[in-house]
Amino acid sequence: MDKAEFPYVLEARNLRKSYGKGENSVTALKDVSFAIKPGEFAAILGPSGSGKSTLLNMLGLMDQPDSGEVLIAGKKAMPLGEEARAFLRNEKLGFIFQFDALLSEFTILENILFPALISTRAKKEPYSESRKRALDLLNHLGMPRIAQRYPSQVSGGERQRAALCRALINDPDIILADEPTGNLDKANGEMVFKDLEALARRRLTTVVLVTHNEEAALKASRVFHMQDGTLSEAVIRV
Ligand SMILES: Nc1ncnc2c1ncn2[C@@H]1O[C@H](COP(=O)(O)OP(=O)(O)OP(=O)(O)O)[C@@H](O)[C@H]1O
Ligand SMILES: [Mg+2]
Repeated sequence: MDKAEFPYVLEARNLRKSYGKGENSVTALKDVSFAIKPGEFAAILGPSGSGKSTLLNMLGLMDQPDSGEVLIAGKKAMPLGEEARAFLRNEKLGFIFQFDALLSEFTILENILFPALISTRAKKEPYSESRKRALDLLNHLGMPRIAQRYPSQVSGGERQRAALCRALINDPDIILADEPTGNLDKANGEMVFKDLEALARRRLTTVVLVTHNEEAALKASRVFHMQDGTLSEAVIRV
């Protein structure tokens, strides 16, 4: 199908999601729709428990909604099998989690390389090429010296930026970041945010960022508020 027919790189249509049954049931997403275009930087703000991570998990194809659709580049994810969804996750999406989720028994370089090594690109690309891309990313973020260290041997800010390198290693179309600066101090948080913004702009990567930081959100091109399972877009500023 013609690409021009699908202006959105990521779209959610009427997502609903509840957890638990009966009296204990929690409706985390009530009827959430949104659509973003390639290269847009969307920030999602909202109180704790309002459904932000639930939404990101649906968008990242890590969990399925009770009803509604997620479309990646115009392609409905729901009818796809687990293997096809895993392919999309690995090739099209980059994830940054609130806690960096680096594997402690592997070096920073190895951590960054994992998504590259399990991608289909790995079959075509020699290991030395993937390694070079990982080292280039580390260099670019000003951390050439931490490649051979283990996550416990670097600072929290460096770990988050290493997680950013890992999210970028496969050149994803979309980065989904769940409070990537949540456990950092102000200076390190700003550094991670700036890196994310600059790299996304340079590569025309689409970013969906969950954050509690209203100041950071003001720099985004789209700002959304999540409240009690409902998403609304903030009025566009001039
Ligand atoms: N696996 C789960 N089982 C049961 N309830 C869940 C589960 N995950 C989330 N919830 C509930 O769904 C609601 C939304 O949770 P979610 O994690 O999406 O919130 P959030 O906006 O990301 O919050 P925070 O800012 O604290 O990370 C909450 O009431 C939460 O307790
Ligand atoms: Mg959350």
